Amino acid sequence: MSKFHPLTIAHVRNETRDTIAVTFAVPAELRDSFQYQQGQHLTLRARIGDEDVRRSYSICSAVQDGALRVAIKRTQGGLFSCWANDTLQAGHTLEVMPPMGHFNVPLNAANHKHYLAFAAGSGITPILSIIKTTLAAEPRSSFTLFYGNRASSSVIFKEELADLKDIYLDRLKITYVMSREQQDIELFNGRITKDKAAQFLQHWVRVEDIDTAFICGPEDMMLGVSEALQEAGMPKTAIKAELFAASIPKHTHQPRAATAASAAHQQTEVTVIMDGNATSFSMEQDKESLLDAGLRAGLDMRYSCKGGVCSTCRCKVIEGKVDMDVNYALEDYEIARGYVLSCQSFPTTAKVVIDFDQAE
Ligand SMILES: Cc1cc2nc3c(=O)[nH]c(=O)nc-3n(C[C@H](O)[C@H](O)[C@H](O)COP(=O)(O)OP(=O)(O)OC[C@H]3O[C@@H](n4cnc5c(N)ncnc54)[C@H](O)[C@@H]3O)c2cc1C
Ligand code: FES
Repeated sequence: MSKFHPLTIAHVRNETRDTIAVTFAVPAELRDSFQYQQGQHLTLRARIGDEDVRRSYSICSAVQDGALRVAIKRTQGGLFSCWANDTLQAGHTLEVMPPMGHFNVPLNAANHKHYLAFAAGSGITPILSIIKTTLAAEPRSSFTLFYGNRASSSVIFKEELADLKDIYLDRLKITYVMSREQQDIELFNGRITKDKAAQFLQHWVRVEDIDTAFICGPEDMMLGVSEALQEAGMPKTAIKAELFAASIPKHTHQPRAATAASAAHQQTEVTVIMDGNATSFSMEQDKESLLDAGLRAGLDMRYSCKGGVCSTCRCKVIEGKVDMDVNYALEDYEIARGYVLSCQSFPTTAKVVIDFDQAE
């Protein structure tokens, strides 16, 4: 599960001037490992110059497509995305970790649901996978998408979305919002903000009719839309959000104030359960995260962003307690079940056991 596998690139397509869609060839012996659910992402790894670089990219293909595809948008000054857009070609090999993530809901052919999605820029990537998979798997369900871009020329998957609209005439509604291209209806101009989302909910969709809302894009858009949905009456549990942080918000761990009780437990004995094996090491509390301490102890613990965004380092605390600094990835129900991000977790008890094998 936590291992990278070398996958050959079968095809690279220029989606827009600054986005490529990369399709991987999955050999028969790895098919089970690379089975995915709509909305999941891959961690890609490459050596760029002297650096071992890992980044997350959402799968854009539908589960029924029989293809494993991601879309990589060039981020100005970005290390991996610029390298990928400039370099990757069919026949190249990339290190790829099996699919992860929980940006989806279970599907059932008997469902008669109405789903809503807000996407901005490359945030369309998992949303496309979710829409395609859902409309194919649930013949009576429908989708409404609000999709924000600068202009038509930068719309990723424009043709694929148009084709989907042709196939699902009555079940898919798409509204484009453009920040640098004037459209006739004023509401469709600008960026997707809380205010704009609130207006859409007032005039275009009834929150009462929506079963689940998906949001994917930058943090300000994600928070704004989520607030608008909740203020319109949608329960937080019906909102699924995925943050696409091109630049991870910088955070420095603040050590806890020392207390007599904590002074007695400055060291923690950590046991890591991973791929069926249990390995232990000792670490100093409050000094480094569980992930950093584990990597330093020689464990091949999985990670990508190290910033609390991608959830690649997600694991379950089986014994003991940890403090988590920042969390942009886990939902409340996951935290309630004991899941943490190891890159953001600092032990607070003398013994901690974490399990990477409980995917749930
Ligand atoms: C779950 C998840 C799914 C994702 N899915 C997708 C997807 O489907 N498609 C997609 O395109 N992206 C996706 N992303 C974002 C992606 O993982 C990368 O973050 C993105 O491609 C940028 O990576 P990079 O290496 O090019 O940029 P980085 O090198 O990480 O740089 C990011 C930003 O920081 C700035 N920066 C870098 N170094 C410095 C410095 N020293 N000082 C100041 N600024 C600096 C850069 O200019 C840039 O603006 C996803 C992210 C997550 C967490
Ligand atoms: S490595 Fe990305 S959340 Fe921890």
